[in-house]
Amino acid sequence: MNITDIHCHILYGVDDGSGSLDESISMLHAAYACGIETVICTPHVYSAEDDLQKIRNVFKTVRAEADRIGIQLRQGYECNYRLMLETEAADMRAYRFEDTDMLLLEPPSGYLPDLWENRIYDLQNEGIEVIIAHPERCRDFQENISLARRMAEIGCRLQVSACDLFGGFFSAYKKTALKMINEGLISFIASDAHCVGDFRYYLKAMKRYPHIMKQTAENCADR
Ligand SMILES: [Fe+2]
Repeated sequence: MNITDIHCHILYGVDDGSGSLDESISMLHAAYACGIETVICTPHVYSAEDDLQKIRNVFKTVRAEADRIGIQLRQGYECNYRLMLETEAADMRAYRFEDTDMLLLEPPSGYLPDLWENRIYDLQNEGIEVIIAHPERCRDFQENISLARRMAEIGCRLQVSACDLFGGFFSAYKKTALKMINEGLISFIASDAHCVGDFRYYLKAMKRYPHIMKQTAENCADR
């Protein structure tokens, strides 16, 4: 089983995640200590104007460190829904996880835009496999769990962030995440780590939900 973390803000200086090379290295050690073998680096991308070259340069630097530690690093992105709305579906292929057809799509924190489902179909028609990042943080999913069922029905896969599962007891994030897990709608649990401390939730998730972690590894295998 290749333990893969598909959502991680481990690249420094490109979003609200790691702030320095040293912090990225500490995060790599924390990931290694969790047993993570592959990390998909998924910095936030909000617009087609965002500087992908800078991200790729930082990726190369961090990958060299990861090689030394024994972790495989792959380039990916966390594509904000606004990027999807303003970009041709074919051009969204550039944001897939390295060597795969998977793309991590971040919904809004409020309500989904009218074109949400149509644009997802457009991506799927381009051969892109859409993974929805932490639907538990989106009010639409919180208020209407059938939306998560609908997304799974149309071929999306859903990813819960480990930190949302172990936050405050009655939080809407946690409640929604647990509902989706209990209904078998979740294909991936990821760290969504922005700092070293976030990996402690990933470790907890590995212990509490080994079946989903196994599924996460299988979903990432041979891609
Ligand atoms: Fe994220």
